[in-house]
Amino acid sequence: MTETLESLFEPIRARIAAAESQESAEDVLRQVERETLDKGGVVAALLAAIPTLPGPERPLAGKRANELKGAITLALAEARERLATRAMERERAGSGFDATLPGQRAARGGLHPLVAVTRELEDLFTSMGYVVLDGPEIETDYHNFEALNIPRDHPARDMQDTFRLDPEGKLVLRTHTSAVQARGLKRLAEEVRAGRFAPPFRAIVPGKVFRQETTDASHEHTFHQMEGLVVGKDISVGHLIGAMKTLLRGVFGREIEIRLRPGYFPFVEPGFELDARCPFCKEGCSVCKRSTWIELLPCGLVHPNVLKECGLDPEEWSGFAFGLGLSRLVMLRYGIDDVRLLLSGDLRFLEQF
Ligand code: PHE
Repeated sequence: MTETLESLFEPIRARIAAAESQESAEDVLRQVERETLDKGGVVAALLAAIPTLPGPERPLAGKRANELKGAITLALAEARERLATRAMERERAGSGFDATLPGQRAARGGLHPLVAVTRELEDLFTSMGYVVLDGPEIETDYHNFEALNIPRDHPARDMQDTFRLDPEGKLVLRTHTSAVQARGLKRLAEEVRAGRFAPPFRAIVPGKVFRQETTDASHEHTFHQMEGLVVGKDISVGHLIGAMKTLLRGVFGREIEIRLRPGYFPFVEPGFELDARCPFCKEGCSVCKRSTWIELLPCGLVHPNVLKECGLDPEEWSGFAFGLGLSRLVMLRYGIDDVRLLLSGDLRFLEQF
């Protein structure tokens, strides 16, 4: 093992250089690579011979083998790069190259209809001074029910059966975005106590909710809602109606007549079902089931018990809340007749938007 690095490398370097001018350059380079770097190649043989050398020569032999490996690797990479550059130049110079042809366009995704409508509503409400709140989808029984005036054993729980995540039933998949009312109000109470907040407080909460449902075209175990909450001094049903009319004007682009019917939800008093004059017909159609009214959203004034539970004095504070069925609104907006399509992940459906 007396060869110098130079004497070992020189013949290999010459083969690589010669390969570059040949038609099948890559094949030759690959062959050189196999004979030198691959298992059973020159470098491996040098390394394998080291243990047979007298002790003092071993470190130098090892170093030389590694330097040779580095030199070959680099020479091969440089040769391949030169070949690629030359191929490109040849292509550009040739008559077949047209620099004006459009490139390959990357496939572009689109917004899911739920996302598109959510963003639109967020824009509408933030322009009116609302903030957008978020809350956990895994919620405590307390925020989802208890704090909203729905104690254990309250019959209202039957309408919102859900998925429980622990044996004691303390954690649930939230059944409505109203859970964030409780979180928002508590936070608000803190801010008020610290003197950091001046009313009114306005928030919307778009998000995913879950229920134990037998699914069909209009029921899904996972769907979307958008909660609205306004709290201040002397907030009345008049404020609620005004906000709802603005919402409808934003969604449908024109004035839409509304009506309130009594509705029961433990966390509002009085509570209403708000109906909107069917935006699609005058005489009754399949969407409004011939009635010319569509049931749009439940709403009401925040129940004093809820305010109290969250640390706000109901004598001083009042507010309204509404629960917009986002999934339903998206279906109305785009004429989708099966709620299960929304979260199906079916591209044939999604690509239509
Ligand atoms: N959270 C209620 C539901 O999902 C709807 C609602 C929200 C009702 C706000 C009144 C006020 O059924």
